[in-house]
Amino acid sequence: MKEVLVVYYSQSGQLLDILKNVTLKIEGEDVRVTYHKIVPKKDFNFPWTQESFYDAFPESFLQIPIELEAPESEVMAKKYDLVILGYQVWYLSPSIPINSFLRSEQAKELLRDTPVITLVACRNMWIKAQEKMKVLLRNLGSDLVGHIALVDRHINNISVITIMHWAFGGKKTKMWGIFPKPGVSDSDIAEAERFSVPIKESLMNGDFSGLQEKLLRIGAVDVNPYLIATDIRGNVLFSKWANLIAKKGKSDPAKRKKWLVLFKFYLLFAIWVIAPLVYIIYLITYLPSLGKIKKQKKYYSSVELKNT
Ligand SMILES: Cc1cc2nc3c(=O)[nH]c(=O)nc-3n(C[C@H](O)[C@H](O)[C@H](O)COP(=O)(O)O)c2cc1C
Repeated sequence: MKEVLVVYYSQSGQLLDILKNVTLKIEGEDVRVTYHKIVPKKDFNFPWTQESFYDAFPESFLQIPIELEAPESEVMAKKYDLVILGYQVWYLSPSIPINSFLRSEQAKELLRDTPVITLVACRNMWIKAQEKMKVLLRNLGSDLVGHIALVDRHINNISVITIMHWAFGGKKTKMWGIFPKPGVSDSDIAEAERFSVPIKESLMNGDFSGLQEKLLRIGAVDVNPYLIATDIRGNVLFSKWANLIAKKGKSDPAKRKKWLVLFKFYLLFAIWVIAPLVYIIYLITYLPSLGKIKKQKKYYSSVELKNT
């Protein structure tokens, strides 16, 4: 009997729906699937308020962990042949609950020397978050063998508007009846079932080498080169803001609030002014950068971790 552990956190349930489809054909007489939902001691409210949404920025980006409820003893009692880790991105980083789990003693026990498949479901910017994830997994001594990324396929700025509607309204519905539905589409969620096949094959053979290539062949990852540039630039700028807010607001909550308001305006400026400029530069430099783009696409679709 093979043992698979699915670890996840999801506010809306989108990730759980995807993970259930991915494991649909893995689970069976020969494979037992156990779910572990990460539960923060003080959970993040969903829907978000404007204040709570921006307040999550510094600790998300700086990857500062919070306290979690301990996993059930049943979960801890087994040794797993595979862990599937479902996560979402908050501010270009693995979300606070996922980051906290990956820094816990329990994660060390569960994930050490264990093959891990990461499944990210986010708006569309997961490239650098996955690099941070690779480091967290390496620190745990686990072996990243597969990666699946499901995103909102609508154009960047449309998905910003619709995700805000979802985050602040709590419902994955069409804003004003005219915008597309936010997040990962219903068809992408349903079709996630196809990933079961190569995963189960590797699991049963006890050999995960080559799994990522098989997953890539069935569309597990689609790296958008424009979003690589935006993500890299965004990380540089977020690093300055996160450190500044953490420093200024350390012993003065009122100061932190003031800086978070400034950050909010900056973020809106970045999304509506800087990101389109990055897009224009990307288009202008597309042809001369083709070689570099090809290399980047290959690396970010892989489970490799470059020593940076
Ligand atoms: C505070 C916050 C920050 C987010 N930042 C990003 C981001 O940087 N990149 C991205 O692609 N999606 C981002 N998202 C979208 C999430 O990754 C995710 O798709 C959405 O919140 C639904 O996740 P759920 O499964 O928890 O409901 C963010 C969401 C929240 C709430």
